[in-house]
Amino acid sequence: MVIQRDDPLLHHDEVGILLRSAGLAPSMHNTQPWRFEVTGQVVDVLLDEDRTLPAEDHSGRMTRIGLGAAAFNLRVAAAMLGFETTLAIEPDPDRPDIAVRLFLGARHSTTISPIGSLYGELRRRHTYRGPMTTAEVSPLVLERLNAAARAEGAELHWLDQAANRELEQILHAADGLDLHDEDRLTERGRWVGGDRTQDGIPQAALGPVPARSAIFRDLAAGFDQHARSSAVFETNPRIAVLTTAVDDSVAWTRAGMGLQHSLLIATSYDLAVSFLNQAIEHVPLRSRIQDLVGHSTRPQLILRAGYPDHAAAETPRIPWQKSLDRWQ
Ligand SMILES: Cc1cc2nc3c(=O)[nH]c(=O)nc-3n(C[C@H](O)[C@H](O)[C@H](O)COP(=O)(O)O)c2cc1C
Repeated sequence: MVIQRDDPLLHHDEVGILLRSAGLAPSMHNTQPWRFEVTGQVVDVLLDEDRTLPAEDHSGRMTRIGLGAAAFNLRVAAAMLGFETTLAIEPDPDRPDIAVRLFLGARHSTTISPIGSLYGELRRRHTYRGPMTTAEVSPLVLERLNAAARAEGAELHWLDQAANRELEQILHAADGLDLHDEDRLTERGRWVGGDRTQDGIPQAALGPVPARSAIFRDLAAGFDQHARSSAVFETNPRIAVLTTAVDDSVAWTRAGMGLQHSLLIATSYDLAVSFLNQAIEHVPLRSRIQDLVGHSTRPQLILRAGYPDHAAAETPRIPWQKSLDRWQ
């Protein structure tokens, strides 16, 4: 059944559902680099320039990926509320701050699309930074993750054991560069560690330190080490590189949508995912990642997937009302 147009367009609680859902998206260092404007049945996702990472994300790639993930969550929530949706990336040349525009279309009260059925996963998904169990991820599940990324214009490339070994070397090289970069360390100190109530990554979410060399990213980079446990990580993790065909801000936004679609499908199978992006953030090392997955691809993210050994810690969020700039 399609609901008639003389209903109020959006109720206050529906705007809350939409924006709270968008805000649950992952973002680098949990900066939550988004703001929102709601005009009738149009929801705009805006880039918040005060929440970017100029040192660690100089190009803005990771920020756009976060915006794409937030836009995908918006679609999920809108579909759960019964709306058909269409979406435009960077829709208005006069408003370059608008990253994504979501149009809410006809509304159905009895059918929920497959995307809407992912709504329950929004709150269950968390970035996991601990070891995985030895349980294998079935090829069928991997294919579902691939299909989810592909549906948004991205691809997942799963690495074999030899590529994993090469990746480990590249990640260590990236860690070495990070640790000697004052600007990066200062920026990370602003967002990572300690107690956090609205944004950033609290120390409790950093996970254990690897007891021996592992394919891993330690975001702490020396902060809060005293309070952390150690653990043995899997020796041959399931690693995927998420790529796009081109490398511009529109493609980064699509990468974010593909990421979030895959993450929500992964969550529905109780899979956990962590990020190993240090190699993407350094241009010469990123080209070595390209050597691993093919020269026609543009690597955007490196993900580790598996069944988690323990529950992931939660990260805080800014109340949705604070990120709503305009509603008319
Ligand atoms: C583009 C992007 C890059 C990220 N890079 C890393 C990373 O390199 N290491 C890491 O541990 N987490 C990384 N994350 C995960 C964020 O830290 C995480 O999404 C954020 O802290 C919010 O927590 P949540 O995912 O549990 O909701 C990244 C997330 C995004 C979207």
